[in-house]
Amino acid sequence: MLLEGKNAVIYGGGGAIGGAVARAFAREGATAHLVGRTLPTLETVAEDIRAAGGTAETAQVDAFDQKQVVDHADSVAARAGSLDISFNVISHPDHFGKPVVDMAYEDFEQSVTRRLRTLWITTHAAAPHMIAQGAGVVLTYGGYGNPMANHGGFQVAFGAIEALRRTLACELGRQGVRVLTLQTGGIPESISDDTPEKTRAAIAKSIEDLTLLGRAASLADVGNAAVFAASDWSRALTATKLNITAGTIVD
Ligand SMILES: NC(=O)c1ccc[n+]([C@@H]2O[C@H](COP(=O)([O-])OP(=O)(O)OC[C@H]3O[C@@H](n4cnc5c(N)ncnc54)[C@H](OP(=O)(O)O)[C@@H]3O)[C@@H](O)[C@H]2O)c1
Repeated sequence: MLLEGKNAVIYGGGGAIGGAVARAFAREGATAHLVGRTLPTLETVAEDIRAAGGTAETAQVDAFDQKQVVDHADSVAARAGSLDISFNVISHPDHFGKPVVDMAYEDFEQSVTRRLRTLWITTHAAAPHMIAQGAGVVLTYGGYGNPMANHGGFQVAFGAIEALRRTLACELGRQGVRVLTLQTGGIPESISDDTPEKTRAAIAKSIEDLTLLGRAASLADVGNAAVFAASDWSRALTATKLNITAGTIVD
């Protein structure tokens, strides 16, 4: 197993991406510490993990509340003995459908500032433990910020996250902490069940049409890439991203 004995905190662990990554981490021997604001959602993922023989804990924490996040990270490190992986993949209220110049500034900028703020809070909470251990992995999700019309601050936010990821990697590298992004082109399986079937199919097709492989990454693909990024198999990788876009982004 690639992550045996590791402790991974997954903010948004009850969500589509966070849940998939948590399941993959646990399959590889990590304890998944699932964080979110709604315990029953987190417990559903935790029960799946336990049923598959893995280990998961849940905690009701708002990833914007710095004290709650620090207290939780400290308690994971104290109880479990380490905090090895921090993955923040919470959702945000993004605004789509209008050119940026037609948006209210607040609607545009909150996509960017919320993502930066919560990534800063969760990394700030994990870093002291990782530095003390001389090892750790911070994962971000999104990547590159390929400009797209009428996406508001969404892609601008990913560009900003990439800038922060590079800075964190520069500052933490000598202390053994690697910082990597999983760069996505969209995961059709993660489209909400509330979305009408016709719309789901159209979104899935639009994601697949942009790939070179003719198929989009699955949630399992995201989990496997996250395991690799968090494991010692990628110990030479930091300050970069894993391109899991199936060729939508050509590096
Ligand atoms: N899915 C994709 O294909 C895709 C593509 C590009 C980017 N992304 C980005 O990836 C992130 C996750 O996507 P997803 O599809 O997994 O979303 P999701 O299924 O809605 O899951 C997001 C999770 O975040 C939790 N959350 C929201 N606010 C929180 C807070 N303040 N503190 C703690 N937890 C919080 C939610 O639970 P509670 O509400 O219970 O807290 C929810 O379980 C989003 O930022 C999205 O923009 C996703």
